[in-house]
Amino acid sequence: MTKYFHLTIRSLLSALLAVPVLWPAIAQAQAQETVCIQCHGGQPGRLGEPIGQWQGSIHAQNGISCHGCHGGDPTDFAMAMSPERGFIGVPDEAEIPEFCGRCHVGVKEDYLQSAHGQALDAGGPQCVTCHGNHAVQKTTIDLINAEDCSRCHEYGRAERIKSALAETDRMISGLETELAQLHRTGIATKPLQDQIFAARNKFHRLFHSVDVEKIQQETAGVQAELGKVEERVAAYHADFSQRRLWGGGVTLALVLMGVLFMLLRKTYHDEEQEHR
Ligand code: HEC
Ligand code: HEC
Ligand code: HEC
Ligand code: HEC
Ligand code: HEC
Repeated sequence: MTKYFHLTIRSLLSALLAVPVLWPAIAQAQAQETVCIQCHGGQPGRLGEPIGQWQGSIHAQNGISCHGCHGGDPTDFAMAMSPERGFIGVPDEAEIPEFCGRCHVGVKEDYLQSAHGQALDAGGPQCVTCHGNHAVQKTTIDLINAEDCSRCHEYGRAERIKSALAETDRMISGLETELAQLHRTGIATKPLQDQIFAARNKFHRLFHSVDVEKIQQETAGVQAELGKVEERVAAYHADFSQRRLWGGGVTLALVLMGVLFMLLRKTYHDEEQEHR
């Protein structure tokens, strides 16, 4: 009897474990209320401040909570910050790229190879210098600006990077609007949208190399790819207006034929009446 009972519990458990869709929901619920947030929420000063800053961040929106970055056990008040439960505390400045790079692997690699990564121990900027720590927001190209990028050196090179990226950004948003319009007219735009998505990903990681020549070269490549999509879109437009032209022509012909028929009939009737 007990054996049977154990078996049922076990199969129930494994059935639950076999439903991976449940896990994101559970992770999200934990991200919203943890012992970290409960206790730190009641702390003054530098211990409590991170809560409010984190709440509006892109990490909070995506279920990445205190323990996602700092480690520890978010379910156990007493043991929350014990290293045995994976708590890693606060990183030194030089450790931050590895700290953030656990999740942002590609960005970390590009960064470490860049002039900024190479200058990490000599006053170069790291992730938090540009993105902040608790209030990290979704990025835009406006992160590259004269005020932030001329704190340590002149702005010229930064500006050249920005204009290469901005031009590509404009092409991408223009194409996205066009494709959305085409989609509404019933044309299958999915393959083209995928092509743009791939181009955009490739191009958004580029920044961290801060290598002006490489960025100019690669954005030229991405722009060429986008150019091909633009040609396809233009071809669709031409096709579409031709179809409309043909459609318009046929309607006009039908109307003309109708009018002609009426006239003929009228003449026939008139003639018939005259003959009587
Ligand atoms: C019962 C209250 C309590 C809980 C639960 C708690 N903390 Fe703390 N935390 C503190 C206090 C008090 C300090 C400051 C004293 C110290 O460092 O031990 C602190 C310090 C910290 C620091 C800064 C450490 C440093 O070296 O400056 C971080 C980061 C941190 N907590 C993160 C977390 C995370 C992540 C969790 C959940 C996994 C958590 N805390 C759970 C009370 C708590
Ligand atoms: C995106 C990663 C990330 C998340 C999420 C995060 N932190 Fe931090 N936290 C950091 C980093 C990085 C530092 C070191 C700050 C620095 O050097 O600028 C830090 C520093 C701290 C400190 C020390 C502050 C000081 O001035 O000494 C505390 C306390 C802390 N975090 C608590 C929390 C709590 C509580 C949460 C959840 C609301 C949280 N953190 C969420 C990355 C994060
Ligand atoms: C536990 C994993 C994890 C850690 C650690 C982490 N992040 Fe994130 N980060 C994410 C997720 C998930 C997103 C949201 C999805 C996305 O945009 O990639 C995100 C988004 C971001 C974005 C916005 C990206 C965009 O699309 O514009 C930035 C910037 C960012 N993180 C910077 C940092 C920085 C800086 C640190 C370290 C202080 C850090 N992250 C630590 C998981 C993490
Ligand atoms: C010198 C400032 C600077 C530093 C240092 C920096 N970033 Fe960025 N990051 C930016 C800018 C600017 C963008 C936006 C580029 C764009 O829109 O093309 C960006 C974009 C991102 C994105 C979004 C990429 C995407 O695919 O959309 C993530 C994630 C990110 N950074 C994380 C990090 C992490 C992690 C580190 C540290 C290893 C780091 N950044 C270091 C300035 C910086
Ligand atoms: C905390 C200081 C600091 C900040 C802030 C900073 N940089 Fe730098 N940057 C450096 C250092 C150090 C170097 C390496 C020495 C040099 O070339 O001037 C460098 C080099 C560069 C280079 C030349 C790279 C190469 O391979 O020749 C570019 C481009 C650049 N930074 C762009 C930016 C942009 C864009 C921003 C703003 C988003 C920015 N920097 C913000 C410190 C900084």
